[in-house]
Amino acid sequence: MAKFWSCLCIITILLLSHVAIARREQVPTPPLPVLPLPTFSQLKWQQRELIMFLHFGVNTFTDSEWGTGKENPAIFNPVGLNTSQWVSVAAEAGVSLMILTAKHHDGFCLWPSKYTDHSVISSPWKSGHGDVVHEFVTAVKAHGEIDAGLYLSPWDRHDRRYGHDLEYNEYYLAQLQELLTKYGNVNEIWFDGAKGKNAKNMSYYFTDWFAMVRELQSSINIFSDAGPDVRWVGNENGFAGNTSWSTINSTLLSIGNASIVEYLNTGDPKGTNWLPAECDVSIRNGWFWHKSESPKKLSQLLEIYYNSVGRNCVMLLNVPPNTTGLISKSDIHRLKEFRTAIDTIFSVNLADNCSVKAGSQRGGKGGGFGPENVLDNDHIWTYWSPREDDKKSHWIEIRVPNRGLGFNVVRIQEPIGLGQRIGRHEIYVDGKRLVEGTTIGYKRLHRLEEVIHGGDVRIVIKESKGLPLISSVGFHFDPYWKPDRKLIF
Ligand SMILES: *[C@@H]1O[C@H](CO)[C@@H](O)[C@H](O)[C@H]1NC(C)=O
Ligand SMILES: *[C@@H]1O[C@H](CO)[C@@H](O)[C@H](O)[C@H]1NC(C)=O
Ligand SMILES: *[C@@H]1O[C@H](CO)[C@@H](O)[C@H](O)[C@H]1NC(C)=O
Ligand SMILES: *[C@@H]1O[C@H](CO)[C@@H](O)[C@H](O)[C@H]1NC(C)=O
Ligand SMILES: *[C@@H]1O[C@H](CO)[C@@H](O)[C@H](O)[C@H]1NC(C)=O
Ligand SMILES: *[C@@H]1O[C@H](CO)[C@@H](O)[C@H](O)[C@H]1NC(C)=O
Ligand SMILES: *[C@@H]1O[C@H](CO)[C@@H](O)[C@H](O)[C@H]1NC(C)=O
Repeated sequence: MAKFWSCLCIITILLLSHVAIARREQVPTPPLPVLPLPTFSQLKWQQRELIMFLHFGVNTFTDSEWGTGKENPAIFNPVGLNTSQWVSVAAEAGVSLMILTAKHHDGFCLWPSKYTDHSVISSPWKSGHGDVVHEFVTAVKAHGEIDAGLYLSPWDRHDRRYGHDLEYNEYYLAQLQELLTKYGNVNEIWFDGAKGKNAKNMSYYFTDWFAMVRELQSSINIFSDAGPDVRWVGNENGFAGNTSWSTINSTLLSIGNASIVEYLNTGDPKGTNWLPAECDVSIRNGWFWHKSESPKKLSQLLEIYYNSVGRNCVMLLNVPPNTTGLISKSDIHRLKEFRTAIDTIFSVNLADNCSVKAGSQRGGKGGGFGPENVLDNDHIWTYWSPREDDKKSHWIEIRVPNRGLGFNVVRIQEPIGLGQRIGRHEIYVDGKRLVEGTTIGYKRLHRLEEVIHGGDVRIVIKESKGLPLISSVGFHFDPYWKPDRKLIF
């Protein structure tokens, strides 16, 4: 009998302790997302930060920007074409996605389309047996960590069918199918709405085209003025708005509509679609290679970087191959400088190893949402969150000891996997306000007017859709930044 009672006692103790353990193990959960959210492919795209455009075709050989469509294919002969060189230049620049102009407005196709002979087939290059698109995707795949994207111009100044809605849209769709079935994975496809002056009544069947793209490529992002996955930023200078929401109302957008460029530039805090902006800009003045042009200055490229990547966008930098079929030495040199500059600025984070506190934190100490998360290397899935019921003390503060080094750039990131939330924020150093900003998004970079050598740096969130969350903070020194410099473009 004594045995029975002691057994029962042990069982009871075990059961009770189990309940206690189960209680103690109740881990605080992440907060609800704020809709809309990025798709898997959009989230991957955003983290690329810098991607490359390659404008190449008959214009390269005629020294023009817009071909007429009357070019003789015999001029296309890039005798030294080496797409591996393009890829290694891109890789060194830290690029993970390259987009090639398979066809520009002139209608000349860089691949042997079976629907036209206005292509590499009719050129002397490789005796008409070449395929630039094939060589491009092969080189990209051989590298392993770079993805391929393609641009197929809707405007076609060569093909007779252009101007005849049905016939031309069928032709375009047939070519789109060739590009999306014959060359493996394509991660981004680029559309614009340019039209010939003589064919303003021409309509492009974007709905059919996009549906076909989705059917043929599951992980692709479709770019156009109006998305549906990535939107145009509204200009070709590479500058996003000072306020830059990844959200917008797609219903207000149309492709090739000049009256929406301002809206595209800033996005919409109330937007119901996740449609982040891509900032296209050329390393040179033109999109195609011209002997007379040289690359932009490093300071200009950095200015673009801060105004695109530093404003919650992806920078699409065009680097045009020359008539030999290679990226020019001067562009390679400038890209190296650019990458070195970015690495120099951002490889040291003066917030590392600093103590950090917050107004409140979800789940209390050890709950997994503390402000220390802004100093780890995960910029998407670990973050600081205030307490659910805390409506006032939305701030984090980092104490930076004066170690002799200073910083003049503040980097702030939101965990956009849970939506873009912050609409207004301020930065104080030892109680003095240095920055008043609006949106943050995936990444916000603030350049300061002065170099800060330590102090209590407080980031205060003044407006947010739902709880504000911050995934990363960095304090960096940019030796190239001169606050008083006036940039002339
Ligand atoms: C093409 O470029 C790659 C990378 O720069 C280089 O290794 C290779 O030797 C080049 N091929 C030719 C045929 O020049
Ligand atoms: C466009 O307008 C022109 C002139 O009015 C007409 O001849 C042509 O058929 C129209 N094209 C289409 C596709 O409707
Ligand atoms: C251009 O956009 C504006 C604003 O959304 C809209 O009112 C107008 O109808 C659009 N124009 C065209 C041609 O789609
Ligand atoms: C976008 O849509 C939301 C939800 O319908 C609406 O509240 C907001 O006003 C719209 N934005 C604009 C600029 O119309
Ligand atoms: C193209 O660039 C390569 C360097 O990558 C250079 O050797 C070649 O001469 C250039 N071609 C022209 C026409 O400038
Ligand atoms: C932070 O600490 C690590 C390890 O001690 C050190 O390697 C790193 O340089 C420190 N970072 C800064 C900015 O002081
Ligand atoms: C960006 O916006 C902030 C606050 O809204 C303002 O203080 C700052 O001057 C703006 N910067 C530019 C370059 O417009």
